[in-house]
Amino acid sequence: MLSILKGRAIIDYFGDKRELSSGFENIKPGDYVVAQGGIVIETVPEDAAKEILEAWREAFFRLKSADEALLLKNSGNEASAETKTIIEAALSGKTLSKTDVQTLLASPAADLAFICSAANTLRAREQGNSACVHGIIEFSNFCASSCAYCGINAANPGLKRYRMEPKEIIEHTVDVSKRLGFKAIVLQSGEDDSYDAKTLSHIAKKILKQTPMLLIMSIGERPIELYRELYASGVRGALIRFETSNKSRYSKLHNSPLEERVSLIKELKKMGYAVITGSLAGLPGETADDSAEDILLSASLSPEMHSMGPFIAHRDTPLKDAASISLETYLKETAVLRLLDPKKSILVPSAFETLYGFDAVKTALLSGANSMMINLTPKEYGGLYSIYPGKQHYEEVSADVERKLSLLNELGRAPTDIGIKV
Ligand code: 5AD
Repeated sequence: MLSILKGRAIIDYFGDKRELSSGFENIKPGDYVVAQGGIVIETVPEDAAKEILEAWREAFFRLKSADEALLLKNSGNEASAETKTIIEAALSGKTLSKTDVQTLLASPAADLAFICSAANTLRAREQGNSACVHGIIEFSNFCASSCAYCGINAANPGLKRYRMEPKEIIEHTVDVSKRLGFKAIVLQSGEDDSYDAKTLSHIAKKILKQTPMLLIMSIGERPIELYRELYASGVRGALIRFETSNKSRYSKLHNSPLEERVSLIKELKKMGYAVITGSLAGLPGETADDSAEDILLSASLSPEMHSMGPFIAHRDTPLKDAASISLETYLKETAVLRLLDPKKSILVPSAFETLYGFDAVKTALLSGANSMMINLTPKEYGGLYSIYPGKQHYEEVSADVERKLSLLNELGRAPTDIGIKV
């Protein structure tokens, strides 16, 4: 249900108020809509909407109280005085300063539970119990770039390459959306020029005609005109990390300047895209100050969702012997990001699950994070999209959907974009 006040559109979901960022031009107060990432993707006739809401009502309030019960159960109460002061200020609405971020990151190991629990409290207060569960389809592992950390970089001759045909991408995306109920899907590839603006637009239009959804492109640094054309074709999301805020490390790992990447991210945001961005946490040589700057840059880009991935060394890259960061460091960074930017979604990326295991996903969701992705790449390409080693692929996607939904259920979180068919 919708009210529009001074150009701001607010939807009401069982009493929770959510602000929309775009897509509400042709909608009037009182209409029923399906929204993803703050963007309207579908209007729903009143009768159908009431039926859906009725089906959700009991689950919505049951999940909400389960989430609230866990907030109380997991409240860590021991921390240093310095940490407590900063957390208290954050919980009372103050924006963290750079020094606050640095202090929290450098706080004693014993403060971790306190910081994570405060981040979870703020997540519940500012974002409610909604959890995004996006699907991701990796449609090509060809890449024109040679990023030093990435296993599908152009300079890796040992990798078998694949490209999905446009028809195959369209059919597969529509199929998984209809069959499993996904309302937000990421189409990801290396930087592969063989898919030009015309081809990608055709793919997007065909998909959206058959299944309304938040379609998110993750195709790297492609020309701004291409992104403009995709937006005109109905694509509303862009996933592109800045990888590191450290200019010299970025250009060493990428052979291009950080400014180009950051200005593209800003342009996409300006164009109206729901942007997902973040850093690769724990790149070799990263200092505590770098981590603080990464978190600050991520928040300053004001994305719809943060996606900070832990770096995992790949044997076919120059960084093959480098170590990853510890789970504790990663969780602390996630919690601090939540404290700095309370109103945005934070993803638990697939690399996190690969590195630390599925049990740790639960810990991340109790430390400020609130979203997950599910890999929907067709089985026959399983293992070839090896940006990092050990990437999970499931024989049966529905098994992964089930265990993630059951984790969300246990934590009292409501999946907002995977429909009620599952
Ligand atoms: N470990 C973890 N994530 C990686 N990516 C690339 N290489 C690695 C790695 N070795 C991430 C980058 C990129 C995204 C598609 O995959 O952050 O933006």
